[in-house]
Amino acid sequence: MSSRHRVSLIPGDGIGPEVSEAAVRVVEASGVAIDWETVEAGAAVVAEHGTPVPDAVLSSVRRNRVALKGPISTPIGEGFRSANVTLRQVLDLYAAVRPARNLPGVETRFSGVDLIVVRENTEGLYSGLEHTVTPGVVESLKIVTERASLRIAEFAFGLAERQGRRRVTAVHKANIMKLSDGLFLECARRVAKAHPDISYDEIIIDNCAMQLVRDPTRFDVLLLENLYGDILSDLCAGLVGGLGVVPGANFGDDCAVFEAVHGSAPDIAGKRVANPVAIVLSAAELLRHLGEVEAADRVVKAVEGALSDPASRTRDLGGSAGLDAITDAIVEHVGGG
Ligand code: NAI
Repeated sequence: MSSRHRVSLIPGDGIGPEVSEAAVRVVEASGVAIDWETVEAGAAVVAEHGTPVPDAVLSSVRRNRVALKGPISTPIGEGFRSANVTLRQVLDLYAAVRPARNLPGVETRFSGVDLIVVRENTEGLYSGLEHTVTPGVVESLKIVTERASLRIAEFAFGLAERQGRRRVTAVHKANIMKLSDGLFLECARRVAKAHPDISYDEIIIDNCAMQLVRDPTRFDVLLLENLYGDILSDLCAGLVGGLGVVPGANFGDDCAVFEAVHGSAPDIAGKRVANPVAIVLSAAELLRHLGEVEAADRVVKAVEGALSDPASRTRDLGGSAGLDAITDAIVEHVGGG
C-alpha cells in the first residue's frame, strides 16, 4: 500500500502528548504517508466544551475511521465521566484487544508469553449507572446484554481464526454472578459451537489471575467482560515488562482507536522519561489495520532492535534512557533519520 492515509490523533494529557509525538515520529520514519488530524480531548477541554469528548473529536474519528490516542486522565471519585469510556461507548468500540508477549531485551519472570486479552468494552460495571439508594448505600449496576456478549465472543473467535490461535478461554465469575456472568458464558458457548476449529474453555477469574502469575504460557486468547478485562490486561502487561511495552486497540464495526494500555502517568509527565514503546507498538497495529503490513512489521522489528541495546532501555525497563533516546533508536532501526 502506498496511498496517503488520514488518521485522527488524540494526544491526550500527562505523558500522552510526549509519547504520541514519539509514535508519530516513528510512523513518519516508516515511510507511510499519514495526514494526522489532531483533536483534543480530556480535562483541558471540559471548561470550554462542557465535556471531555467534544463533538469535533467524535466527528473526526467517525470521518477518518481510525485514530491514534494518547492516555487521558480521569478524576477519581468525582468530576467528569471518563473520556476513554465515553469514546468507547459513543463510537461503539466494543472490542479492546491487548496482546501481551515477551520482547527481546525486556527481562521478565517468564519467557514464551504470547497471549491476547479480548475485553468487552461498552457495558458491564462500566455502564456508568450508579446512584445513592439512601445515604450510606450506593448501587452500581452491571449491565450484560446478549447482543454485546455475542458480538465480543464472535470477535474473539474471529481474531483467533485470523491470527492462527488455537484456543479461546472465557473468564468469568458465574458461580457468584449467575445471571450476568452466566449470560456472558452462555453466549460464549454458543459462539464456540460455531467455531469448532478453535478450542474453548472457561475459567473463574480469581483462579485465572493465580494461573496467569504461575504460568502465563498456558493461555492463548482470553475473552473477558469489561472490568475483568481491564484488570487482567494490566496484570498481563506486568508479565511481559509492564505498561510501558504493551499495545492496545479498540475496535467497532465502523472505526478503530489504537492506544497503549497505560494511563497518563502523572508522576512522570513532562519529564521525558516515559517509555513510548507501548504507543509505538499500538501505532504499528494501526499501520497493519490500514493495510501497511510491511511497515507495521518493520516498526515492530525496530522496537525489538532498539530494546536489544541496553543503552536504549527506559527507566521502567531498568535502563536509564529517556524518551528521546529510545525514540531516536527506534527511528534509526525503522530506516528513517
Ligand atoms: P498509569 O498507567 O498512568 O501509571 C501507572 C504506573 O505506571 C505509574 O507509576 C506510571 O509512571 C507508570 N507508567 C505508565 N505508563 C508508563 C510509560 N509509558 N512509561 C513508563 N512508565 C509508565 O495508571 P494510573 O496512575 O492508575 O492512572 C493515571 C491516570 O491515567 C488516571 O487519571 C487514569 O484515569 C488514567 N488512565 C487512562 C487510560 C487511558 O487513557 N486509556 C488508561 C488507564 C488510566
